[in-house]
Amino acid sequence: MTRRPRLDQSIAMLAQGYAWLPDRRRAAGRDTVRTRVALRQALAVEGPAGARFVYDEDHVRRSGALPEPVVSTLFGHGAVHTLDGEAHRVRKAMFVHLLMGEGVAALVDRVTTAWDDAAYRWAQQEQVVLMDEVARVLARGVCDWAAVPLTEDELPALARDLTTLVDGFATGAPRHWRARRVRQRREAWLAGIVEEVRSGARAVPAGSVLATVAAHRDSDGELLEPRVAAVEVLNVVRPTVAVSWFVAFAAHALHRWPAHRERLRSGDAAFAEAFAHEVRRFYPFAPFIGGRSPREVEWDGERVPAGSMVLLDLWGTDHDPELFPEPWTFRPERFLAGDEVREIGAWELVPQGAGDPRTGHRCPGEDVTVSLLSALAVRLARLEYRLPPQDLRISLSRIPARPASGVVLSGVRAG
Ligand code: HEM
Repeated sequence: MTRRPRLDQSIAMLAQGYAWLPDRRRAAGRDTVRTRVALRQALAVEGPAGARFVYDEDHVRRSGALPEPVVSTLFGHGAVHTLDGEAHRVRKAMFVHLLMGEGVAALVDRVTTAWDDAAYRWAQQEQVVLMDEVARVLARGVCDWAAVPLTEDELPALARDLTTLVDGFATGAPRHWRARRVRQRREAWLAGIVEEVRSGARAVPAGSVLATVAAHRDSDGELLEPRVAAVEVLNVVRPTVAVSWFVAFAAHALHRWPAHRERLRSGDAAFAEAFAHEVRRFYPFAPFIGGRSPREVEWDGERVPAGSMVLLDLWGTDHDPELFPEPWTFRPERFLAGDEVREIGAWELVPQGAGDPRTGHRCPGEDVTVSLLSALAVRLARLEYRLPPQDLRISLSRIPARPASGVVLSGVRAG
């Protein structure tokens, strides 16, 4: 049994970021470590077996477990992330229906069209910040697809607001307070739109995200409160725009390991997907997930009292040498078997959670993420540009991490 820390580790967590749990594991010499966060005892686990433990609702529940600053910025109050049991399954089915079916191809179409339009504009500018530009491309594509009304004039502000929500959840810095204000404002805006859809004052295509969320009935048979419906529309639109982080990381990877550019350019679809998986595995984005134990449980010889936090280290699992030999080498080929993408186990690659997205809390947006990232990585590889002098460092103590400069491109020519 490991020693139980007496001091709360929240400050250490915020200061060390992605290295916090791996460092604690190294210091303890084991995969499972005790800690204290958000003034609660916590157990942090890693690897496929740890993930299976965490994703069992009998051991870990989400309701009331997520820290208020995270709910008030990233997810929203009443979000699917915060539900358990039947309430979760019914709400989750709506996301699975919207995000894991045939609709994904239409979203990719919208986004790639928006990229191609934008690339012509980038070619007329001296330089552009890739992360900001891609956030606009994704916001344009996803709002059109989701039937969220958005004029060209409104686009830059919405893209900025959606990235602010992602940027401010794990910090006490001003970006956190900005994120809270943005959430208030954008939820109010979307709740009004949901009410217009319900009253018939606004027509939206059947089957669109807006139409589906507006008409969704929860496990109690009731429509969602307009504010909660707004939260869930944002839970589609906001993380889609967050794919801009991975596109910035893809640009970083192409800069560090330019040999991958040719194979991406060639349009080798399996390689593009493998590249997308390696970007999601290698670069830091979601650090860990967690919940609370509903009763006393035990894991790896450690007793977890009822109400404790249980954390799964996603970033650490994605760099576990038993799962990914030479984890600090960027090697897309690790996801290929011959000319095809190899089968990837449900508990193995976990940048967006683990297990079955249909029944557990695993991200239902992985198909969307991988499809968008593959398509945009190919476009990025085909784009001609230079990287002027800039700070491309990615600090592991900043959650969410990002290349400091946002990746400035100059001399862009559409390929
Ligand atoms: C849940 C990561 C993209 C929608 C999650 C979780 C993670 C995650 C770590 C929590 C898993 C858990 O608690 O067990 C990411 C990352 C993305 C991404 C790194 C890259 C940008 C997306 C996209 C969508 C999406 C594109 C929708 C279009 C959701 C939803 C949930 C979720 C609705 C809640 C699922 C639940 O609680 O059952 N995501 N995600 N995500 N994600 Fe994503």
